[in-house]
Amino acid sequence: MKRNETTTRIAHVFRGTFVHSTPQTAVEILHNSVLGVDDEGKIAFIDKDQNVTRLSKLWGFETSDIKQLGQYEFLMPGMVDTHIHASQYSYSGTALDLPLLEWLNTYTFPVEARYKDLDFANNIYTKVVRRTLKNGTTTACYFATIHTDASLLLGELADKFGQRALVGKVCMDCNSEVPRYKESSSDCKRETDRFIKELLKKEYPNVKPVVTPRFAPSCSAALLSDLGEIANNTKLHIQSHISENKEELKLVKRLFPDCRSYTDVYLKYNLLTDRTVMAHGCYLTDEELKIFHETGSAISHCPNSNISICSGMLDVRNVLNHKVKLGLGTDVAGGYSPSILDAMRRTLDTSKALTIQDPQHQTLTFEEVFRLATLGGSEALSLDDQIGNFEVGKDFDALRVNVCIPDGPIDAFPGEGPKVILEKFLNLGDDRNITEVYVAGRQVVPFPDT
Ligand code: GUN
Ligand code: ZN
Repeated sequence: MKRNETTTRIAHVFRGTFVHSTPQTAVEILHNSVLGVDDEGKIAFIDKDQNVTRLSKLWGFETSDIKQLGQYEFLMPGMVDTHIHASQYSYSGTALDLPLLEWLNTYTFPVEARYKDLDFANNIYTKVVRRTLKNGTTTACYFATIHTDASLLLGELADKFGQRALVGKVCMDCNSEVPRYKESSSDCKRETDRFIKELLKKEYPNVKPVVTPRFAPSCSAALLSDLGEIANNTKLHIQSHISENKEELKLVKRLFPDCRSYTDVYLKYNLLTDRTVMAHGCYLTDEELKIFHETGSAISHCPNSNISICSGMLDVRNVLNHKVKLGLGTDVAGGYSPSILDAMRRTLDTSKALTIQDPQHQTLTFEEVFRLATLGGSEALSLDDQIGNFEVGKDFDALRVNVCIPDGPIDAFPGEGPKVILEKFLNLGDDRNITEVYVAGRQVVPFPDT
């Protein structure tokens, strides 16, 4: 490993076991290795070389500053939540007894309407950013609400607590049974422009706006067209929902009779780009998946939500076979858990349920699911040139995991290697095992105020 910048200063050095995914390998375990992070938060080197004196001379750090990971500890990339409704966090864990369209009108829209009140927004958004960071979500792709000022506040809070985030002001101009919870299409366009301009003006290093049509049934053709134009002019990310529930499919057919499929609706309005992430996709046909592949659009798989509100079961294997980018999402609060560890477990459960239905189904492995939660998520958000694994030059977004903490949820036993320890963490671990969280080299958990 060469030091290419004489001015590079090393801010952190870790020594021990590192676990990550590479484009070729779902889980690569680097034993007895040393990883250095520069003062711009980027990974400067990762080296098997145990000659730390040589490394310290080469990179100019003190060997006494090395953070040594213990026997039951490892470092892994931060987890990526590719789909979460920050605004629905207030009722997560409740209200899961109705199917999607009724659920939206009964629980979701009335709560989202309350974010006109910035004090209410500040309380919930502070809690969701802190909770997800504690759970190891270093990058979150957020839906806020239709309110521009509260959506800007969510961006401010993500920046303050140090989370990497895409933040979307929600756009919807029709088919809400809660009359106060929608905008006219012209207001929606104007407010989206304002949201983008004001958020970009803040120059937060790791928080960016994402164009957010709620889903086709909530948007007129005129609004979808405007949003496609905004996204293409600004080259910003786009997020929405697609093909989550069967009644929704019927509704989309009725509302957009000229479109061949649900995917065709978004394609028609230029909303499928290589910076697009669509949640769910449970009922996408192979023909639609081909369009996702061709446009470079991604799917956010949200298994907790899919099961909790009885929407469907996405065949992730089929999506991957179509070479469509896929990451995991919590979809709080259709999904009740704000943890990507939970999303990994539900992804495995759903894959196993599909195998029970059809023994020919090739069940996902825990290694593959680890990849989806980290590198896969970064690919789904087109951020894989910046985050997702421990490649030199990427930002250091990482979790320090300890599976053996007093009174913790995991018992580890002598002789268990890193692969077993990783599997135990994925299946049994929780935020108590995530002892430190880093985003772009900055330690954000434990919180400075605790
Ligand atoms: N489709 C449109 N809006 C939503 C939402 O808030 N949650 C879920 N799960 N699906 C949606
Ligand atoms: Zn959603």
